[in-house]
Amino acid sequence: MPRAEPFPYRGATAVVTGASSGLGAAFAEHLAAIGCDLVLVARSAGVLDEQAERLSGHYGVSARPAPTDLGDHESRRALVEQLAGSRVDLLVNNAGVGSYGRFAELDPDREVAQVELNCVAVVQLARAVLPAMLERGQGGIVNVASTSAFQPTPTMTTYGATKAFVLAFSVALAEETRGSGVRVLAFCPGPVQTGFGGATGDSHFASAFFAKAPHPEQIVPHALEALDRGRSVAVPGLANRFGAVGANLAPRWVTARISKRVLRP
Ligand SMILES: NC(=O)c1ccc[n+]([C@@H]2O[C@H](COP(=O)([O-])OP(=O)(O)OC[C@H]3O[C@@H](n4cnc5c(N)ncnc54)[C@H](OP(=O)(O)O)[C@@H]3O)[C@@H](O)[C@H]2O)c1
Repeated sequence: MPRAEPFPYRGATAVVTGASSGLGAAFAEHLAAIGCDLVLVARSAGVLDEQAERLSGHYGVSARPAPTDLGDHESRRALVEQLAGSRVDLLVNNAGVGSYGRFAELDPDREVAQVELNCVAVVQLARAVLPAMLERGQGGIVNVASTSAFQPTPTMTTYGATKAFVLAFSVALAEETRGSGVRVLAFCPGPVQTGFGGATGDSHFASAFFAKAPHPEQIVPHALEALDRGRSVAVPGLANRFGAVGANLAPRWVTARISKRVLRP
């Protein structure tokens, strides 16, 4: 297969969801540093305003806040209409949440909202920007999945299933669009030190699992490098890559049992 050209970041417009913190904020910072104009999406309007001002001042790019609740149909539709009327060269579908605990005891509304944000929003935004990218013969979509995508994750049951969806969706889309000039990447990090652990609703799990994890600034370059190489899946870290390969080889009930032990704090 011919080696892909580096992605043309300079002067491109990138939409980053979940840009107010963690991996999304790191994506925004890295992309601004290499010359991308930005549309920053999350719910925290004040944080996005400050971030847009700082990034445009520091890197001389244009950065526009687009406060949106991606878990809400109407709010999402307004963003989709905005994006349809403007040029998007790179979409980073990063916003996502998880929950931790026994499924039967978790808040049912939160579980459904997780699917809405982690899956429905990813599909809707990708569908909004892809046709114009295909027409131009250029563009990129990075969907942030997780190493949780490679095996069932008891006690993070809904979360792992949403990320398995994101992985399958992205790889299929990468294959559909192969040769079109549009790149689609499923980015699958292992644990990263962000607000994610705390947002699962279990502080014991959060401190046990994420305390020694790498920081988002260390992880994001792996995604951009994989996009440059035209990869459809990227798993940062050797141990995570071994885990992903192993999970693909073993029966699902085996990997579910192992991951239940791993996820027990
Ligand atoms: N951290 C990890 O260990 C890890 C590992 C693998 C994959 N991931 C994935 O990485 C992605 C980013 O997570 P993170 O670790 O950076 O966590 P984080 O620091 O908690 O960031 C989550 C981001 O999503 C946004 N968000 C949450 N709900 C939203 C909604 N309804 N509408 C719009 N934006 C919303 C948050 O902003 P607002 O609150 O301002 O809306 C925030 O910017 C997620 O998809 C996660 O599944 C994380």
